[in-house]
Amino acid sequence: MPGIDSASTFPLGGRPVKRLGYGAMQLAGPGVFGPPKDPDAARAVLREAVARGVDHIDTSDFYGPHVTNQLIREALAPYPDGLAIVTKIGARRGSDASWLPAYSKEELTQAVHDNLRNLGLDVLEVVNLRIMLSVHGPAEGSIEAPLTALAELQRKGLVRHIGLSNVTPTQVAEGRRIADIVCVQNHYNLAHREDDALIDSLAKDRIAYVPFFPLGGFSPLQSSTLSAVAARLNATPMQTALAWLLHRSPNILLIPGTSSVAHLKENLAAAELTLPEDALKELDSVAGARPV
Ligand SMILES: NC(=O)c1ccc[n+]([C@@H]2O[C@H](COP(=O)([O-])OP(=O)(O)OC[C@H]3O[C@@H](n4cnc5c(N)ncnc54)[C@H](OP(=O)(O)O)[C@@H]3O)[C@@H](O)[C@H]2O)c1
Repeated sequence: MPGIDSASTFPLGGRPVKRLGYGAMQLAGPGVFGPPKDPDAARAVLREAVARGVDHIDTSDFYGPHVTNQLIREALAPYPDGLAIVTKIGARRGSDASWLPAYSKEELTQAVHDNLRNLGLDVLEVVNLRIMLSVHGPAEGSIEAPLTALAELQRKGLVRHIGLSNVTPTQVAEGRRIADIVCVQNHYNLAHREDDALIDSLAKDRIAYVPFFPLGGFSPLQSSTLSAVAARLNATPMQTALAWLLHRSPNILLIPGTSSVAHLKENLAAAELTLPEDALKELDSVAGARPV
């Protein structure tokens, strides 16, 4: 079975990764806060992902906090060669599970060290700076101070590559003047397509775009068009939504999240799903026509 190799690769930092990866956020407890009900089941999802060829796992030390990274370490260390663990810094959790900005130089340094310790690594492969000018979506404002601090941690050898998350195109341009940006991680999926132009411009420069909430996030995508197309292709709506993203642009790397081995297998099988032209046209209409 060709599995996720059917979906080819795209460079993430120094090396190519498979275009279907895994996002670990769903492994923490409810509201991404505290431990999961069944830590063995969470570790089983991680082991299954790697057994099926996943070489790109997305995480953060603020998931839990610390919980998701500790599960990754328990399940997978010593890590297989070629596994890219991508983390993000720039936020912290309040005692009420809220998501708060944390990008002073001291907080970013602490976050890098927390990630290194909890993941059991000497260097972090890719660190995304998660901008928190607004928690719910990108908002304009300079990112120079936190990105300069992260670039300094990179120069010290603690971070190999830098990415940006929850950013506007203006912030991406500002970021690229300060550091080599290898990926952008923003909210994007079949129904949420504000970043169409940004994706195309990053593709031209061979920079990876990693959509978060590829399946719709905490409330998975629901669309009668998506369900009808999926049924015709003998696939599930989630597989069809992922296959659409793979088709959307070659620089898109997927990190669908799940706490279930069954959903993981289903999602990875999307790599083998080909979407015919008429299906693509219908799916494009879910959020309006795609700009050409
Ligand atoms: N940079 C950022 O600000 C940011 C924000 C959010 C997320 N992220 C990253 O992006 C990754 C992906 O986002 P996400 O996990 O929040 O959202 P997602 O991948 O869009 O969707 C996850 C949700 O879909 C469900 N699901 C997964 N596969 C399914 C299937 N085959 N059938 C039915 N339901 C399914 C999951 O529930 P089950 O557990 O029951 O499968 C979960 O509720 C995260 O893991 C995280 O690493 C980054």
